[in-house]
Amino acid sequence: MIIAVYGASSRLGQQFIDAATAAGHTLRLHYRAKPSEQVPEHATVIVGSLADPTAVREVLRGADAAVVMLGHKDDARVPYIAAATKLIVSTMKTLEQSRLVVVTSAMAGESSGNVGFTMKIRTMFARRSAHDGMMEDRDEQERYVRASHLSGWTVVKPAKLTEGADSERAQMDTTVSVGAGSQVSRAALARLLVQEITTPRFVQQAVFVAER
Ligand SMILES: NC(=O)c1ccc[n+]([C@@H]2O[C@H](COP(=O)([O-])OP(=O)(O)OC[C@H]3O[C@@H](n4cnc5c(N)ncnc54)[C@H](OP(=O)(O)O)[C@@H]3O)[C@@H](O)[C@H]2O)c1
Repeated sequence: MIIAVYGASSRLGQQFIDAATAAGHTLRLHYRAKPSEQVPEHATVIVGSLADPTAVREVLRGADAAVVMLGHKDDARVPYIAAATKLIVSTMKTLEQSRLVVVTSAMAGESSGNVGFTMKIRTMFARRSAHDGMMEDRDEQERYVRASHLSGWTVVKPAKLTEGADSERAQMDTTVSVGAGSQVSRAALARLLVQEITTPRFVQQAVFVAER
């Protein structure tokens, strides 16, 4: 498959690139600055702003699926994720593409019964300490994807991400519970993302990810 990757420079993105390449996929990688790290031989690198429709479109060229792994820096004050996601979605519609996997957070958007009491408290504090508009940016991203009318969207909401090794204990499902102590390694999440893109199980659903 050809996979368009937004957030290629993220720590999760690096793991995703490794996992997707090992699985034989061809990647179109978006960076906002020339990457300092080595990219796989057959990957295409597109450097540009996520506000630039030409750059966003070029990443999607010929893609069978797109994955979004964008985050905020700790000191970020300017929301950009919802707007970038909207541009990606509208460009996908123009290109008649539909498979979109978006990584957000267990702390953002709708949580239904998946988030335990302690995690709700932690989320409340995180929302209080976040700079204005940052959590709302994530909420809006999720709302937008859910309402996008793309036939192939999936929202992925992980617990705290770690640099640990891949583990079979990592679970991705609509029923996974996330507590304040829950975590999952970026390596395991990357593997699960590649799996979901290759063999979709959660189309038009939001899933939580954590280690058992
Ligand atoms: N960290 C956690 O514990 C945690 C928990 C749950 C969910 N998540 C989510 O999982 C995903 C990956 O997390 P991560 O910790 O691996 O990410 P990360 O290493 O912090 O990388 C963040 C990514 O967002 C990009 N980015 C940041 N500000 C930007 C801006 N203003 N304009 C364009 N791009 C910008 C970065 O690009 P540059 O390299 O160019 O700055 C980078 O590709 C994110 O969606 C994150 O919110 C994280």
